[in-house]
Amino acid sequence: MTERHSQPAATARDEAAPEIQFRNVSKRFGTLTAVDHLNLEIGKGELVALLGKTGCGKSTMFNMIAGLMEPTEGAVTVMGRVPFREFDWFRGKMAIVFQNDRLLPWRTAVRNVELGLEMLGISAGERRARALRWLETLGLKGHENDYPYALSGGMRQRVSIARAFATDAELLLCDEPFSALDEMTSARLRTEFARLVRDTGKTAVFITHSINEAFDIGDRIVVLKRPAEIAHDIQITPDTPDHERERIRAVIHHSLSA
Ligand SMILES: Nc1ncnc2c1ncn2[C@@H]1O[C@H](COP(=O)(O)OP(=O)(O)OP(=O)(O)O)[C@@H](O)[C@H]1O
Ligand SMILES: [Mg+2]
Repeated sequence: MTERHSQPAATARDEAAPEIQFRNVSKRFGTLTAVDHLNLEIGKGELVALLGKTGCGKSTMFNMIAGLMEPTEGAVTVMGRVPFREFDWFRGKMAIVFQNDRLLPWRTAVRNVELGLEMLGISAGERRARALRWLETLGLKGHENDYPYALSGGMRQRVSIARAFATDAELLLCDEPFSALDEMTSARLRTEFARLVRDTGKTAVFITHSINEAFDIGDRIVVLKRPAEIAHDIQITPDTPDHERERIRAVIHHSLSA
């Protein structure tokens, strides 16, 4: 297990500026500290699972990366810019998948996928072609013209994922997108998601409170304790042997149950 807690990023990533950087970030809501002096760097092309118990500040971190919230102290930069101040610059560069699918009920699956592309000013023909391609990739061929109410929860989340990938944003942010689904569907979707991220070379931050999910998703697992502070920062490769994975799992389990 490689612990990278408060150490500089590995040499491979030192060449480029980090894609996401938290520098001494705190976020307070009145007297409550949700994020406490957090330092974190995520490099381009990394697939990172942010794992922590409910209420530990994951969504708060997510909202600061997405530019929906400003830190009380410190700085969050994404691609070298400040998301909260340069929200418009990030249009098309960041795609978000939320816990609830957030599809528009009055639009069909394909028109929901097209939504993000409309905002980017992509032509109607290209929009339709891309949306259909991503729906097919996610196994939704034949459901292009279904409205969200006619789709299962798992299918709706597939549409959300198609929508995120269709914009071709280089950064994908996911806040527990599969937590409302049954374990089998969730496991299948997260494996698919991780494969698509790797195939497309995108950077992805995936928030979860499930150890299994973190293992299925992340090349790197950042374990948070409350208030959002890094408890472990672990790199996992396809070569990490099973006994080592089990050891890491036990360490994480212990730290989450503390
Ligand atoms: N807008 C807000 N105003 C006040 N308190 C907030 C606000 N947003 C979050 N908090 C508080 O900050 C803490 C962290 O919340 P956050 O939503 O980031 O946790 P989380 O790790 O995402 O939890 P979950 O796994 O349940 O989604 C919680 O105690 C929460 O009540
Ligand atoms: Mg949350």
